Amino acid sequence: MTVNGAFVMGHPIAHSRSPMLHTYWLKRLGIEGSYERLDIPPEQLGAFFAGFREAGWIGGNVTVPHKLAVIPYLDAIDDDAKAMGAVNTIWWNDGALTGGNTDSLGFMGNIDELVPGWDRTAKRAVILGAGGATRAAAYGLMKRGLDVAICNRTISKAEALAEQFGKGVSAHGLDAVGGLLAGADLLVNTTSLGMIGQPPLEIDLTGLQARTVVYDVIYAPLDTDLLKQAKAKGCRTVDGLGMLLHQGVEGFRRWFKQTPEITGELRALLIDDIRAKTPGA
Ligand code: ATR
Repeated sequence: MTVNGAFVMGHPIAHSRSPMLHTYWLKRLGIEGSYERLDIPPEQLGAFFAGFREAGWIGGNVTVPHKLAVIPYLDAIDDDAKAMGAVNTIWWNDGALTGGNTDSLGFMGNIDELVPGWDRTAKRAVILGAGGATRAAAYGLMKRGLDVAICNRTISKAEALAEQFGKGVSAHGLDAVGGLLAGADLLVNTTSLGMIGQPPLEIDLTGLQARTVVYDVIYAPLDTDLLKQAKAKGCRTVDGLGMLLHQGVEGFRRWFKQTPEITGELRALLIDDIRAKTPGA
């Protein structure tokens, strides 16, 4: 039986940076509790949930490959998880084991922190990609009232997202990006391009305006080529590390009932860890 125990469950799970965040916050806030890494192979998922209450878990994060597989074991799914089609956080809500998804809140919390007031006049966003991170970004931006253009190599994937989110969200190929930039208040990269070990992101940034905020969800490296080019054009930029931190805040609040602080010390800890494990970051 754990006391105030939370977890991140996945398979494999060794790479997860979440324990670093949550153990830092537990210590800093003086909360008696723990956040553990659980390696749960798919065939053990049923047994894990059968013993969940008895084990005393207060909740946790869910990662690959369980983000969909956990759904049948939960009592309720919140609107964010429904929109995302995946659960990344579990907690007890009035006795009901509830699944949610904090990726969209993490995405928005990061830009709100780093570029306060960015959305006061923002109307149009251009997002590159059509994967899980795109979904989180598009959903958050759409809820904030922005029109969102999703641009992806495989246009059918962008179309599927546009169809799901409906009015205000449109689908395009990557060749449309150049023409969309002039009207963009926000440009977001949610593809894997530009990440260490991946090919570079090669898009025509000629039309990028200085008023456009440029957000890259990649955090290895922190300063991607896209962000460097954007800064050279005078744009305000947002890197991807804060998305991880802010989605962590949302989980921590649900389990431990306190809002933890994203300190410079915590950012530095994570950056050191990324650099240690990703040569070249
Ligand atoms: P996640 O779920 O982590 O967001 P993903 O589902 O693997 O990531 O999505 C990766 C994104 O990067 C996709 O939009 C992918 O485009 P496709 O849907 O066409 O595959 C994009 N991507 C990856 N490699 C690419 C490349 N070489 N050129 C253009 N887009 C690429």
